Amino acid sequence: MNLHWPNFLVAEEDGATIGIGQVKPHNDGTRELASMVVVPERRGQGVGGTIIQRLIADHPGQVLHLTCRVPLRGYYERFGFRALSKEDYSPYFCRLMPIANFFGAIFKRRIVVMRRDA
Ligand SMILES: CC(C)(COP(=O)(O)OP(=O)(O)OC[C@H]1O[C@@H](n2cnc3c(N)ncnc32)[C@H](O)[C@@H]1OP(=O)(O)O)[C@@H](O)C(=O)NCCC(=O)NCCS
Repeated sequence: MNLHWPNFLVAEEDGATIGIGQVKPHNDGTRELASMVVVPERRGQGVGGTIIQRLIADHPGQVLHLTCRVPLRGYYERFGFRALSKEDYSPYFCRLMPIANFFGAIFKRRIVVMRRDA
């Protein structure tokens, strides 16, 4: 949803893409760190962390949100994100989460919304 290539940061090695991530701006002003993927053979070597740090640095003074599966919560906490309760969701996540939770229940995956304050 809402995919625009200029929002993406791409990590390359010898011309090959090894990781991607983006910050998506939503209509209500919510900015979402999203699409974080590192190729399997380069995981656990700091590529994802470097992409996240760079995206944070490229959005100075801005609050960032993300959604992730529960096991990744601790990973994103390293970068200053904190899990939100429903009352603190931005309007975008108030609309999205009932749908995400519906599919999450089907696939037995609990999704958390996290926020990093500016
Ligand atoms: C999540 C992901 C982007 C992290 O990128 P990465 O380059 O492997 O991350 P880094 O090297 O910066 O950090 C590695 C750390 O993250 C932890 N980590 C990675 N995936 C994890 C997971 N699914 N659950 C818990 N911790 C995880 C590793 O244990 C490692 O911890 P350590 O530093 O204590 O050894 C990458 O593992 C990935 O592409 N996963 C599949 C796609 C995905 O789940 N994307 C996230 C969507 S919200």
